[in-house]
Amino acid sequence: MADTILTVQGLSKAFGALRVAENVSFEVEEGEILGIIGPNGAGKTTIFAMLAGNLPMDDGQIMLHGQDISSTPAHERSRLGLARTYQVPKPFTHMTVFENLKVAALFGGGLEEVECEGWISQVLDLTGMASARDTLAGRLPLLLRKRHELARALATRPSILLVDEVAAGLTDLEVDEFIALIQEIQLSGITVIWIEHVMKTMLTATDRLMALAGGRLIASGAPQDVIASEEVRRVYLGV
Ligand SMILES: Nc1ncnc2c1ncn2[C@@H]1O[C@H](COP(=O)(O)OP(=O)(O)OP(=O)(O)O)[C@@H](O)[C@H]1O
Ligand SMILES: [Mg+2]
Repeated sequence: MADTILTVQGLSKAFGALRVAENVSFEVEEGEILGIIGPNGAGKTTIFAMLAGNLPMDDGQIMLHGQDISSTPAHERSRLGLARTYQVPKPFTHMTVFENLKVAALFGGGLEEVECEGWISQVLDLTGMASARDTLAGRLPLLLRKRHELARALATRPSILLVDEVAAGLTDLEVDEFIALIQEIQLSGITVIWIEHVMKTMLTATDRLMALAGGRLIASGAPQDVIASEEVRRVYLGV
């Protein structure tokens, strides 16, 4: 049995009358890829924001490596090994790819200056960004912008990576490249939670799948079973 890397208990959040997370509880095993699906507005990104410490929760508990991080600020969670990507990336557009990754490594990951060169080269190789190293982040085409967002999160040297919709707007071939990349990230020893609407990613790459609707966890288990479940098909696939 793998160890549990993340435990989420009773996570709840409301924006006024809108309840975006209702008593959400789940565990993440070390080394797995856990997928999260759910219709637009289900609360997926909001859960990432609370896990990363970007948004305070109303109620609940988050344990990372057995440590209660429920009140730990975002930058400290990052130093503890939790990284996230953003659905709408906001890189430093006037800095190069390398410089963006260096900022992430130094300030997000707490790496030493002397470690940066070697580590960032590894991240650039893994994410297929080596040839774009000196390109200004604001000049990257869509596919590389998405790879860059992953690279920025990886540069912090996480043990758990939260990936929020990298496959949206990509061709089928590009989606396959991302599946391969996320699997390589997993092979490198990083646990992944991956939100995606593109169903192929969730069916091929995840070890386990959770479905959210209206802030509630409506199904969890083997990807095939979750997608086949009646409630998921009704609220998500509309069938
Ligand atoms: N800061 C906020 N203030 C008020 N409402 C918000 C805020 N952030 C998100 N919401 C609302 O909370 C709900 C959940 O949003 P969230 O972004 O988590 O959905 P999602 O599951 O990630 O959707 P998508 O698949 O479209 O990315 C939505 O109705 C959204 O409009
Ligand atoms: Mg979202």
